Amino acid sequence: MTLREQVEQDFRKRFGAAPTAVVRSPGRVNLIGEHTDYNDGFVLPIAIDREVWIALRPRDDRRVVVHSLDYDASLSFELGRISHTGTDWSEYVKGVAWALQEAGHTLRGLEAVMTGNVPRGAGLSSSAAVEMAMERAFATVSGLPWKPSEMALLGQRVENKWMGVNSGIMDQMIVAGGRENHALLIDCRSLSLQPVPVPTGAVVVVLDTGTRRGLVDSAYNERRGQCEQAARFFGVKALRDVDSRTLSARQNELDPLVRRRARHVITENERTLQAAEAMRAGDLTRLGKLMDASHDSLRDDFEVTNDALNTIVSLARAQPGCFGARMTGAGFGGCAVALVAPEQTDAFVRTLHEKYTQATGNTPHLYVCHAADGASVLETHR
Ligand code: GLA
Repeated sequence: MTLREQVEQDFRKRFGAAPTAVVRSPGRVNLIGEHTDYNDGFVLPIAIDREVWIALRPRDDRRVVVHSLDYDASLSFELGRISHTGTDWSEYVKGVAWALQEAGHTLRGLEAVMTGNVPRGAGLSSSAAVEMAMERAFATVSGLPWKPSEMALLGQRVENKWMGVNSGIMDQMIVAGGRENHALLIDCRSLSLQPVPVPTGAVVVVLDTGTRRGLVDSAYNERRGQCEQAARFFGVKALRDVDSRTLSARQNELDPLVRRRARHVITENERTLQAAEAMRAGDLTRLGKLMDASHDSLRDDFEVTNDALNTIVSLARAQPGCFGARMTGAGFGGCAVALVAPEQTDAFVRTLHEKYTQATGNTPHLYVCHAADGASVLETHR
């Protein structure tokens, strides 16, 4: 049974009627442009074919009833009385209702069943997938227009203010605005989106190291602070406004650690724009080299990789047909991403699984992904 069939079937059993709409909302993987979003820079992610699904129908009152198949748990609350009680999946549902109402939207109640197959806690934005799915659900029953960047900003507000996670805008933007067979070049200052076709000669493979590090949030915030310090040094709003030439000219005046952090962000912005060009030109060799350079910069200058990420990336690069590989997401464990020639993908996955397990004793999860559309609403067949 597909995830869609599961939520529709459970909805009928639980609420005794057919849902009026079904929402799907993808996870994401970033091809290049890491730790640039909160520096007002550029990112180049794809939405992936791992998704959250919600079957729903409106209610005549202001009650929200959501059942999660994955947690086998239900949530019920009044739109006029939302309180913060924990940190689990239900907080994303309540946080979305809170953010939409706080932005001035009038919401209608709904009942819904939710499931998903975006790996959780792996750096594939399962939380942004839930946020955008719930926003689409509320937008559908309440007749709100779907403006990807506005919805993305509200999702980020849920993370920042309701969940207390200080993340940037990339995840919600790609989940809200993704396009099938395309990556999106996102300008994280203007929030403009440019779809860039993923060349047919390459397959995106996500490499989950199976490692997770604690204290990611505090390390992430520390990096943000160092970037802000560098921006203050240059007298600009964000590191987006500094180029490599300016950095080289003044680098000796900067604290060595802050200099390395700034060098990563500044060169990563440049690599991301070049990667979008290489993708448009179908130049996979160049794209792969830029991804490799991105990883090396994240490892040496930004220092957000761990041994598992460095190992899986170097093993991936050594396989035939691999154009390039790098860590993706916040880092400190989680996933890497590789670009692989289609005809070599099966052998790539098999050999990398074996070699990484041998080298580290960890079991990896390798996902062959296709670039998918962003969050969407589907009519139901009655
Ligand atoms: C996490 C955050 C994003 C972004 C990346 C690093 O995924 O949620 O906003 O900052 O880290 O590129």
